[in-house]
Amino acid sequence: MAKSNLLGKIPSMVSLMLLFGVLTATLTTTGAQIGVCYGTLGNNLPPPQEVVSLYNQYNIQKMRLYGPNHDALQALRGSNIEVMLGVENERLQDISSSQDSANNWVQNNVVNYGDVNFKYIAVGNEVNATGPEAPYVGPAMEKIQNAISSAGLANKIKVSTAVYPIILGESYPPSKGSFRQNYRPFLDPIIGFLVGNKSPLLLNAYPYFSYIQSRDISLDYALFKSPSVIVNDGDLGYQNLFDAILDAVYSALEKANGGSLKIVVSESGWPSDGGDVQVTTKENARIYNSKLIQHVKGGTPKKPGSPIETYVFAMFNENEKTGEPTEKHFGLFFPNKEPVYPIDFN
Ligand SMILES: *[C@@H]1O[C@H](CO)[C@@H](O)[C@H](O)[C@H]1NC(C)=O
Repeated sequence: MAKSNLLGKIPSMVSLMLLFGVLTATLTTTGAQIGVCYGTLGNNLPPPQEVVSLYNQYNIQKMRLYGPNHDALQALRGSNIEVMLGVENERLQDISSSQDSANNWVQNNVVNYGDVNFKYIAVGNEVNATGPEAPYVGPAMEKIQNAISSAGLANKIKVSTAVYPIILGESYPPSKGSFRQNYRPFLDPIIGFLVGNKSPLLLNAYPYFSYIQSRDISLDYALFKSPSVIVNDGDLGYQNLFDAILDAVYSALEKANGGSLKIVVSESGWPSDGGDVQVTTKENARIYNSKLIQHVKGGTPKKPGSPIETYVFAMFNENEKTGEPTEKHFGLFFPNKEPVYPIDFN
């Protein structure tokens, strides 16, 4: 609609210049919504200094690191790249039970890298809400927060944890989203913590996995390719699964005293190989990630106009990842730094 209106008129030079002015402004501010996860489960990956150069070369301004890899942190010194740094799940028990451990972790991995631009600490990744590590997450977040606050960094660095949509009992339509009842003992203290500290919830959100688990979803809906609304939900219409997942989690948060929380998408992506030959193609991965990068500049139907900070998984194909064969093929780049498919981060 907007396009045909624009093309239907002969724009004056002034309106053209205004249009380009607006476009340029949008590009520079919203380019910064996108980060890329730097996973390191490969035995053939480039050294961290070259990885940081590659981020700069492609104008990728944010990085998620899964743990305090000192070579990577060293390489990030003085770069302006914003960093989400993980506390590995294996460290949760120790840190949850000792403020000294949390202080040491923050001292060694954050304070000692004063010239690295840390933005988030992700305390645990996809911790099983009913598994043995679950009780450690909330207390570990509290202790890391104490350490961050004592270091005078509370205004700069937000502490959170990365969850995944399995926490949802209901998710369809998005307004019906709610958390699994038996996960509430895990989630409620986390939500309380995030609200109290004005920290976002980190969500790993993969339309790809929803699609392969439920074939009633159309591939176009998962790939941001539907030309029109697929799911009507009250006054809201959903044209893609990514928005539907996010809004289902927003709805669930509203029902769990977390209505004020913002979601940061700490992982999303699409494998370019290793699965169904019609689905896990370079072309589909290119389409998903290219459209994702553009899409997150706007909001979801529930939160229109508020850009969604999003980290694409992942920088490289990682040959030591275990699990499904697709796990090795989420990379935007081969280990030799060649792009797997053309992609533009601007
Ligand atoms: C989580 O942990 C419980 C208890 O150990 C187990 O039964 C369940 O399968 C786990 N869930 C996932 C998604 O790993």
